[in-house]
Order: sequence, then C-alpha cells, then structure tokens
Amino acid sequence: MAKTRSAYFCQSCGYESAKWLGKCPSCNQWNTFVEEVIQKPGNGAPDWKGSSVTARVTKPTAIHEIVYTEENRLITPDTEFNRVLGGGIVPGSLVLIGGEPGIGKSTLMLQLTLNLKNLKVLYVSGEESEHQIKMRAERISPLSASSNVYILTETSTQNIFKQIEILEPQLVIIDSIQTLYSAHIESTPGSVSQVRECTAELLRFAKESSTPVFLIGHITKDGAIAGPKILEHMVDTVLQFEGDRHHVYRILRAVKNRFGSASELGIYEMQGSGLREVSNPSEILLSQRDEQLSGITISAMLEGVRPMLIETQALVSSSAYGTPQRSATGFDTRRMNMLLAVLEKRCGFRLSVKDVFLNIAGGLRVEDPAVDLGIIVAVISSHEDISVSSKICFAAEVGLSGEIRAVNRIEHRIAEAQKLGFEQIYISKYNQKGLDLTRYSIEIKSVSKIEEVFGALFG
Ligand code: TYD
Ligand code: MG
Repeated sequence: MAKTRSAYFCQSCGYESAKWLGKCPSCNQWNTFVEEVIQKPGNGAPDWKGSSVTARVTKPTAIHEIVYTEENRLITPDTEFNRVLGGGIVPGSLVLIGGEPGIGKSTLMLQLTLNLKNLKVLYVSGEESEHQIKMRAERISPLSASSNVYILTETSTQNIFKQIEILEPQLVIIDSIQTLYSAHIESTPGSVSQVRECTAELLRFAKESSTPVFLIGHITKDGAIAGPKILEHMVDTVLQFEGDRHHVYRILRAVKNRFGSASELGIYEMQGSGLREVSNPSEILLSQRDEQLSGITISAMLEGVRPMLIETQALVSSSAYGTPQRSATGFDTRRMNMLLAVLEKRCGFRLSVKDVFLNIAGGLRVEDPAVDLGIIVAVISSHEDISVSSKICFAAEVGLSGEIRAVNRIEHRIAEAQKLGFEQIYISKYNQKGLDLTRYSIEIKSVSKIEEVFGALFG
C-alpha cells in the first residue's frame, strides 16, 4: 500500500517544501505554508482515460516536416475575444481567465458559449446551480430550443471526465478551477496541490483530445491568480478580465499567449443584458462635454498595441494644510510627483504649496509614458485656470530635465487622433524624423521643451 505523502505548500506562490517554513524563500511571504496530502493511499481512481502518465511515444520531427494550418482556429462571433486570443481559439489549448469576483468572468464565458451556434459546449460550474445559470443565460440572450450548450454542476474531475466521454463536447468551460477536486489528492479544493493536479488532468485531456478548455480562476486582492503561480506556467494562454467594478467598462487582456501577441486587449461594456463589445474605445473614454473646462487634456496612448485617446483631468488648488496632498487615480503617484518636480524645477511653477489631484477618465489604469505631456499640460491648465481646446491632443514622454521625448508607434497614435477628428497633436521633435507629414490632415506640432508647449497653449 502506498504511503500517505504530504508536503508543505506556500499558499501564495505554490512553493513546495518538505518541512514547514515561517517565511517562503520564493515569494518572501510570512506564514503561508500549509501541509497538504499530495498522494492518497491506494491511488487507483482513473483520470482522463485512465492515463496519469502519457503512454504515447513521441519521436523527433524535422521542423520543416511539421504541418501546421492556421485555419484550424475556431473563430467565435465575439471579435474582441478573437483578437485577444490572437485570432480565434486554438484546438487543444488550455486558457486561463483570471479576474476579481463579480467582474463578469462567468458572464463573458456563458455569453461566448451561447453565441457559438454550431458547437457542442460543456459548461462545468462548481459555483452556481443550473437555475442560476439558466437565469443568467436568459438575461443574456433569449434561448433557442436547439441550444448546444450543456450545463454540468460538478466538482470532481473524475466525474467531469466521465461526462465528457459521454457527451464529447467540442469546447469545455470550467467555472472555476478553484472549486474542482481530484480524487488523487486529498487536500481541499482550491489548495495549491489540488489546483495543480486538476489543471494537469485538464491539460492532458485538452492535448490528447484537441478540445479547447477554458478555466476560470479567481484572483486574490493583490492581483495574483489565487493558488499557485505554477498555474500560469501550465496553461497556454492567460487572460485577465479587469476593470473598475463601479464603472461599466471591462478590459480583457492577454497576459501570456503561446499562440499570439501578449499585448492585445479587448474592451467590453457591462450592460443589463450581458457584455457588449466596444470596437471604438476612444469614443467611450472621452467624456462628452460642450464647454471648455480647465484642467482637462487628451492623450493618445497605447494599451498593448491598440491606440486610444483618453482624457486626463487635473485639479490644482491651494493647500489648506502644511503638507500638500497629492493623489492620482489610474496613474502612478511616483511618476506624478516626478512630473510635478520637473514643472517646479524647470519651469518655475510653485506647486509645492498646492494640492494636486489627477484622474484618468473611464476607470482605466495607464502605464504608457506617452501621457506625460498631457498630464503636465492638464496640471498647468488647472493651475492657470486656462482651458485647452478639446481639438488638441498629446503624445510624448517628459524627461527629468523637461525635455520632450519620443514614444513608440507614433504613426498609430497620430492616425487614431486624426480618425477621431482632432485638429492638432503635440509630439516630440525626435518622433518627427522619418514621419511623412504630408500623409496626415491633422496638424502635427513637434516640440522639444515643455516651455514651447506652454508658450503655444497659454501664451
Ligand atoms: P459574474 O459573471 O457573475 O462575475 P464573476 O463570474 O467574475 O464573479 O458577473 C457578475 C456581475 O455582472 C453582477 O454584479 C451583475 C453583473 N451583470 C450585469 O450587469 N449584466 C448582466 O447581463 C449579467 C449577466 C451580469
Ligand atoms: Mg462567476
């Protein structure tokens, strides 16, 4: 009889240790080790087709002899989803969709499966009852009688595989991986070793049957997919569904993709009847306004490889207390402090006695340095109480000495600004080289110092 074997796992990163440790040597978290039984005595229950070790013998193949066709991809009716996956679902791929609770992961996957008309889909839910799923489905789209979506409320992988063998679905959705358990492992569902074993079994199933499998995974407060980091290494693609729960916009982002670019993203709007694809994101990120207000500018930024125009709002007011307040929503506070220091030191604005608040519209988080110029213009616009025309936009990084630096993919940014009807775009002088200005109808202002921008805008 096999001996019961157990080990200690860090619940934060999945690090395995033979003995208990106070501090994880891998992720440096304290008190995260929990003992988990990793092998049950009398380990006999079969998993996917009873093969815990693949019996198939593989031989090396010359790379030019490997046949591969792009047409095999499954194109879904959801164009945003196809784009994020790199052009549709790859057969036999294992895709992990992470996101905070309540963000809309179940809605996204259910909506996707309901729209796949000619495909037999198995939706395995360990979280909700059949009734709950049916109610949600009716909210999303009135069901036709010949729907090919099958719901299974089950958490044991062995039972799931049994049903898969009977149903032979062409696509499997697991909602969520943290609720599954495998009889091979004794620890509770959601623990590191369970999550790892269940994923391994599903991976084997996906590869051997060429059926794509989607796993929904919860993420913890600090943004990591709960359970082990190893999960991200095991799957082919990791998608993150994110957004501010108080806003209606959601972003589906590829964090890792073995079959496409990891810088793609799709944008959705959460409505009463499910998620709507947003194909022109700039329209929603620019707030509708008729009058000119000070402290507002528009920047042409990139999310992944997708250009979009976003609005930055700044508010500068006299500080009521000794220490001025600095707060930024959707933008790195340290970077904001750096930009304010540049304005103070290089341009002589006395901002150290002012409270400065910064907000990126639409609940987005921006990391693209190309919004720097738009941000400092917004700050000065609020400080001077002079508005900037809503027909002007910005795309440049600002350096420590107040120089305006070049940013990548400037042609895409300019083209997007032009498409949306902007009349002027401020870019770095260094970006202008190699740019064919005659191609654009938008006026391109190339600058090298912040003072030039202020001179042109505020006189
Ligand atoms: P859900 O898909 O259950 O989130 P997750 O699986 O990520 O935990 O989505 C839950 C939220 O979505 C819930 O607060 C209600 C909202 N929602 C809508 O606004 N419209 C809809 O049509 C649906 C189905 C949900
Ligand atoms: Mg859910």
